[in-house]
Amino acid sequence: MRIVISGGTVVNADGSTQADVLVDGETIAQVGPGVAGSSAANGVDRTIDASGKLVIPGAIDVHTHMELPFGGTFAKDTFETGTRAAAFGGTTTIIDFAVQSRGKSLREGLDAWHAKAQGNACVDYGFHMIMSDVNEGTLAEMDTLVDEGVTDFKLFTAYPGVFYSDDGAILRAMQQTAKNGGLIMMHAENGMAIDVVAAQAVERGETDPYYHGVVRYPIFEGEATNRVIRLAEATGVPVYIVHLSARDALEMVQAARGRGAMAFAETCPQYLFLSLDDMANGFQGAKFVCSPPLRPADHQDQLWRGLAKDDLQVVSTDHCPFDFADQKQLGQGDFRKVPNGLPGVEDRVDLMHDGGVVTGRISRERWVETLSAAPARMFGLAGRKGVVAPGADADLVVYDPERRHTISASTHHMNVDYSCYEGRSVVGGSDVVLSRGRVVVEDGRWKGAKGHGRFLRRSTAREYLV
Ligand code: URP
Ligand code: ZN
Ligand code: ZN
Repeated sequence: MRIVISGGTVVNADGSTQADVLVDGETIAQVGPGVAGSSAANGVDRTIDASGKLVIPGAIDVHTHMELPFGGTFAKDTFETGTRAAAFGGTTTIIDFAVQSRGKSLREGLDAWHAKAQGNACVDYGFHMIMSDVNEGTLAEMDTLVDEGVTDFKLFTAYPGVFYSDDGAILRAMQQTAKNGGLIMMHAENGMAIDVVAAQAVERGETDPYYHGVVRYPIFEGEATNRVIRLAEATGVPVYIVHLSARDALEMVQAARGRGAMAFAETCPQYLFLSLDDMANGFQGAKFVCSPPLRPADHQDQLWRGLAKDDLQVVSTDHCPFDFADQKQLGQGDFRKVPNGLPGVEDRVDLMHDGGVVTGRISRERWVETLSAAPARMFGLAGRKGVVAPGADADLVVYDPERRHTISASTHHMNVDYSCYEGRSVVGGSDVVLSRGRVVVEDGRWKGAKGHGRFLRRSTAREYLV
């Protein structure tokens, strides 16, 4: 199949230009003015008119949790429903977290995630590996996984008794990645301190979901962020802080980057658009329970500035949906039992366009950089994803920068019964979405297929992380 996308403004991270895009099979063949009328475009099967629209690289969400087991239940989106929803929102690649359960091998965890995704994913996907145990066996397995294209490992200073690793374990995993070229991703909150403060709150009868947001102090995120960056500096490896939410943590990343440390971080739309106030509505607040929690609104300006100045390199979603009607109810009477996580994989591109580009907080190019180009570079997909250029996969979005729509659970495609952004009107939306040359979404209709998505064997990205 040969497709020409004509008359649009191609937006890449390094600039925008009026250009046509010729897609040949699964890849981009040509980008430039006049390509649509050139001999190269003879015999195309289809022309998509992008006049007045943007043509952007399909977005990459490097932080999702399809079917994650958490708190006695599972995140509701499967690889089929979650990647379909992602595509509706202009995201054509996800990197999900395979989980090593305590006492099991990394291999068992990775095989389980391959089984969930293969034949089900609608767009391309890769995996990071969550490490719950650091021992001789799992350390050796890290090298094998890097060879198989699973090049990043997430460890936690949070969730004692579940995913938590102590400083020694984190240091050992970092030492191993110093040798194998991988990347350590850190969930940085001081989980031990949080558990003490949370237990004290419950003893006082403060059991509503709101208190989840209160007891996980910003300073606990700042402290853990500084600690893990220092451990990374001691071992000479890059470290990537996931779902950074608080100014306390951002200041640690800024200071580290200022002294030349290889410290990187992502934030998520929920920390830019939602706040602790959203949790102050009785048990409805459970809809917004995630970790780190939503912060007081006055943290947001600093996060936006960090994003504009490249102290934060990536915006991901941490998509991890649980139904309000039953799953979030597990936390009735004790906020510690609310499954942690929010839906968001479908909304990120539009929220960041509306709240970032339309408001002038970030440029269109920075929007593409944080949603596609930097994720591709930092996670071993450079040249293949995250760019509109010859040779790259034809993951493309014809984006209408003026279309207004209202976010709602009644119209979204994520398999979850509520939206954190219910009723929010946004400017910007994906008209046509291509995944490896195949139109998967057009004018709000699904044209893709379960199983179209392929596993992405990623390379290490050390050259971009030093
Ligand atoms: O609340 C969250 N973030 N749930 C998903 C698991 C994690 O820590 O990323
Ligand atoms: Zn996390
Ligand atoms: Zn997560």
